[in-house]
Amino acid sequence: MHAWLCEDPTGVDALTWKELPTPEPKAGEVRIAIKAASLNFPDLLIVQNKYQIKPPLPFVPGSEYAGVVEAVGDGVKHLKVGQNVACLSGTGGFGTHTIAPAALCIPLPDSFPHVDAAAFIMIYATSHHALVDRAQLKAGETVLVLGAAGGVGTSAIQIAKALGAKVIAAASTDEKCALCRTIGADATINYSTENLREAIKALTDGKGPDVIYDPVGGEFAEPAFRSIAWRGRYLVVGFASGPIPSLPLNLTLLKGASIVGVFWGGFAKNEPKASAAALAELAQWYAQGKIKPVIDRTMPMAELKAAYAYMGSRGVKGKLVMVN
Ligand SMILES: NC(=O)c1ccc[n+]([C@@H]2O[C@H](COP(=O)([O-])OP(=O)(O)OC[C@H]3O[C@@H](n4cnc5c(N)ncnc54)[C@H](OP(=O)(O)O)[C@@H]3O)[C@@H](O)[C@H]2O)c1
Repeated sequence: MHAWLCEDPTGVDALTWKELPTPEPKAGEVRIAIKAASLNFPDLLIVQNKYQIKPPLPFVPGSEYAGVVEAVGDGVKHLKVGQNVACLSGTGGFGTHTIAPAALCIPLPDSFPHVDAAAFIMIYATSHHALVDRAQLKAGETVLVLGAAGGVGTSAIQIAKALGAKVIAAASTDEKCALCRTIGADATINYSTENLREAIKALTDGKGPDVIYDPVGGEFAEPAFRSIAWRGRYLVVGFASGPIPSLPLNLTLLKGASIVGVFWGGFAKNEPKASAAALAELAQWYAQGKIKPVIDRTMPMAELKAAYAYMGSRGVKGKLVMVN
């Protein structure tokens, strides 16, 4: 097998594409022939030693992938050789094969393509937890999605539409805004060229959005929060722009509004039954055509460094997927 090895977590340049012995699964594990692996934000942080999880060295990055079970360890009941699976195990995805805990592998119906499956769990499970569980979004409410053309942003647009909400998508270029409209956004704001507060006011008749979904952080958090509706819910999803914003707490009082933290990994760990139910609902929505990952492009696994560079350029729309 081949894999991208991180022996020195100083960044993408230090990764090497290596031939390694093909491992055998131990009890409770399976070996997966990887067909597709998507890039997620933590994949960039983990190779720089900046992610909260620091795997022992050396490790193979690649948090989320899909493929075919090739060998099964003792005690594995729900998976067989030849079964298509998706897995979000945190590492191991950027190679031709990996060993994964069977408990983390989700069997896929044959109608679920590997590329979509590799780009599914992280973004849709996060946005489902955020909008359905944490925000209690109702049909007819208005959602503002920041960074709306990114991975979690595109999933938030589709889930909010599936729930019957009105969606305002905000992004940094006209091209990204156009993509957001093609996947269901009712209106868009280019926050590089428009005044965010004025645009929100105009699009909501001065009322403001009921829910704000923020995976970006930085400079837009405060103006967005100042525009929120009475009883609004501001979802803190991530800080893709870098800076972690601070807000004057009196703003919550003035709007009767809530700042709501979203941490899907913690939810899945602490509330596994609720998390599994959410994933089952998402699989159903996928089968019904209500949601579908936006794939910017697929690239050969051997071109991982170019994919990381593209991801760092802020140009990706939806998800990048490496394929074998
Ligand atoms: N809380 C959770 O459970 C959870 C789960 C998954 C992900 N996340 C977090 O959510 C954030 C977004 O993840 P993602 O997968 O959607 O990432 P992504 O696909 O790269 O999208 C992030 C978006 O942020 C915007 N952005 C603004 N400034 C940026 C900068 N300096 N560099 C890069 N992007 C910038 C970009 O949109 P514009 O160009 O339009 O501004 C970009 O499309 C990350 O911080 C991630 O860690 C959190």
